[in-house]
Amino acid sequence: MATRLFEGKEHASYYQKYRFSPAPEIQDLIFSYLNERLNKPYELAVDVGCGTGQSTQILSPHFKKVLGTDISEAQIEEAANALKLPNTTFRAAPAEEVPVDDASVDLLTACAAVHWFDIVKFLKEVDRILKPGGCLAFFSYLPHMEVHYKDRSEQMTKVFSEVEDVLSKYQHEKVHHVKTAYKEIFDSIPYTDKVRKHDMATKTKMPLADVIGLIQTFSMFQTYRRLEPEKANDFIKTIEQRFLEIMEVSCNETEVEVWFKYVLVLASKPK
Ligand SMILES: C[S@@+](CC[C@H](N)C(=O)[O-])C[C@H]1O[C@@H](n2cnc3c(N)ncnc32)[C@H](O)[C@@H]1O
Repeated sequence: MATRLFEGKEHASYYQKYRFSPAPEIQDLIFSYLNERLNKPYELAVDVGCGTGQSTQILSPHFKKVLGTDISEAQIEEAANALKLPNTTFRAAPAEEVPVDDASVDLLTACAAVHWFDIVKFLKEVDRILKPGGCLAFFSYLPHMEVHYKDRSEQMTKVFSEVEDVLSKYQHEKVHHVKTAYKEIFDSIPYTDKVRKHDMATKTKMPLADVIGLIQTFSMFQTYRRLEPEKANDFIKTIEQRFLEIMEVSCNETEVEVWFKYVLVLASKPK
């Protein structure tokens, strides 16, 4: 069964503001894997579960056409309004029914998204739409992020871990795919040419305000806010205050560095 946790307009607007594009290291690995298997020029890339398009826009310089799809109309509306790239379009569609022809796609990506899909149906659809030699890239950041600031990184990270602990109560069962670094999804891919890399560390600088925004994009925080709005709002205010106190600053525009680990699954359809 597909899962629908990202439908609200408010959730989509948090996405637009606070999600960021995949780290350059991930992008390099994806494009070199593709380069080794298909000749340029590339015609079509599809980013499935594209949200508000941050994972889609990295594709546009490399392909003649790019399509971002998502089951949520609200996410697609935000993506289409925010990103006006001449070769890139967005459409609301389930991952299990991508609106493109058979054997037409050079690269299919799903960033922080594949674990939400009906995996069996989705992998059949991927096989339908990939060209022979075409590639898939499923990737996601993993839990247990670290927040670094001067000599206060240990305390900052401890607060972030507490956030993850509190929110874990609201976690959907499908998040176990992320916690196990996409092991089952990788094993289900029917191609022999495949690789799974996990524990790839990346670092991103952002203002503290964006860390607070990022937390609010998590599906588990949105579930918390839907079930207990006042408690969830107080919780997020308290967390911000605790970070500010540790940093001994008053401005949430102060920059911190967030360390993520990613999982990346790459595979290529036989020629
Ligand atoms: C965590 S978000 C990731 C969005 C974006 N790729 C990013 O990296 O910011 C997951 C997205 O998958 C979408 N989604 C969930 N189930 C889906 C399905 N069955 N078909 C298409 N999209 C789906 C959600 O609406 C949501 O926008």
